[in-house]
Amino acid sequence: MTDRRRLLLVNGPNLNLLGTREPDIYGTVTLADIEKLATATAAEFGLDLRAVQSNHEGALIDEIHRARLDCCGVVINAGALTHTSVAIADALSAVDLPVAEVHLSNIHRRESFRHHSYISAVAEMVVVGAGAEGYAVAVRHLAQGRQS
Ligand code: DQA
Repeated sequence: MTDRRRLLLVNGPNLNLLGTREPDIYGTVTLADIEKLATATAAEFGLDLRAVQSNHEGALIDEIHRARLDCCGVVINAGALTHTSVAIADALSAVDLPVAEVHLSNIHRRESFRHHSYISAVAEMVVVGAGAEGYAVAVRHLAQGRQS
């Protein structure tokens, strides 16, 4: 257990376009809505949340490294990098914080290239297909784990 009181929320490529991006798949919820929901859920447990989004793999890795200094867990939707990035999975392993992976859509019901996640192997839990609510589930999971 750690006495740190902050979660890191990481959103990867193209998730800044939520709201208008393929609404038939991702709905009309915006990234701002998601960050608000995750922040409010963390606050229920007395936790702060730092929300970051980038379309650049290296920037995401830098943010994950930074979490080592002041966070007690990482909620991550790495977007398409989920399916390609050993480097992000390695960064998550390196910082050795509990990780909750989120996908708005059910990646297992979509194209086969979305079925494999490099993140899942280093995540405590994975939420897929629950839309924005999945982020609240992930935050709650990490917050409750922190208390136990
Ligand atoms: C996603 C699923 C990924 O396959 C896709 O590349 C995304 C979003 C999701 O939240 O459902 O960008 O991570």
